[in-house]
Amino acid sequence: MALAGKRVLVIGGGSGIGFAVAQAVLAAGAQVMVASSNLDRTQAAATRLGPGASAARVDVTDEAAVEAFFTDVGGFDHIAVTAGDWDGPRRGPLAELDLTAAESLFRVRFWGAVAVAKHGAPRLPAGGSLTLTDGMIAHRPSKGSAISTAMAGAVEHVTRALAVELAPVRVNCVCPGLIRTGVWDRILADRREAQFAEMTKRQLVPRIGEPQEAAEAYLYLMRGGYTTGQVLRVDGGSELGG
Ligand SMILES: NC(=O)c1ccc[n+]([C@@H]2O[C@H](COP(=O)([O-])OP(=O)(O)OC[C@H]3O[C@@H](n4cnc5c(N)ncnc54)[C@H](OP(=O)(O)O)[C@@H]3O)[C@@H](O)[C@H]2O)c1
Repeated sequence: MALAGKRVLVIGGGSGIGFAVAQAVLAAGAQVMVASSNLDRTQAAATRLGPGASAARVDVTDEAAVEAFFTDVGGFDHIAVTAGDWDGPRRGPLAELDLTAAESLFRVRFWGAVAVAKHGAPRLPAGGSLTLTDGMIAHRPSKGSAISTAMAGAVEHVTRALAVELAPVRVNCVCPGLIRTGVWDRILADRREAQFAEMTKRQLVPRIGEPQEAAEAYLYLMRGGYTTGQVLRVDGGSELGG
């Protein structure tokens, strides 16, 4: 299923993995709209992407805004959701966790994805695709990750259920391992590569992944017309590597 001439929406496409998906979509000959909660950022991204790219604002935590967005922008052939926020309590011992605050971890990545499915999928054609995003924390919990692990696992489970509910639209999920995006800029630059090496040394592919390598998975799931309800890991073999 070729992407040339298709219309693709990447929510979260202003940066990181989503930006790489937008680049790959354009290279495949499709038009791409990048959307996030910040229009300045998506406009800057669309400018960097060049001809064939456009920008929009949508905050996936606001269901009414998601509905209005899809009413305004019309239909797409494929939607990828890479939206993720990095505020709030992500990690910590369960005994110290504020459970009300911890609920917020589901707002963008889980409920945001569900809102996009609810209002975006009716605008996709049969055989079109919705691709969600979780992360290897779903499969490799660590101490302090209970809520992150549960949230990521919930995205995978809802992917399977949405694939059933929304067929003949296809619904899949990409599960990245460690990918080199701006979210890791909080590690001081002179320590970053050493930390990546430490974090990935047991992987079968013992290095951090590049956003372009993650983007390949989204492109496959858009093009792969016989694939639905699947989770595709792009993790350098982190689980098998022990
Ligand atoms: N990088 C990794 O190592 C890694 C590993 C495993 C999983 N992942 C997952 O992959 C996804 C993308 O990660 P990334 O590294 O590419 O991070 P990123 O560069 O921060 O991308 C996340 C994007 O989500 C957008 N966003 C945040 N809140 C939003 C909202 N309420 N509505 C719409 N868009 C929103 C952000 O833009 P605005 O702030 O402008 O809204 C941003 O462009 C995330 O779900 C992350 O959990 C990443």
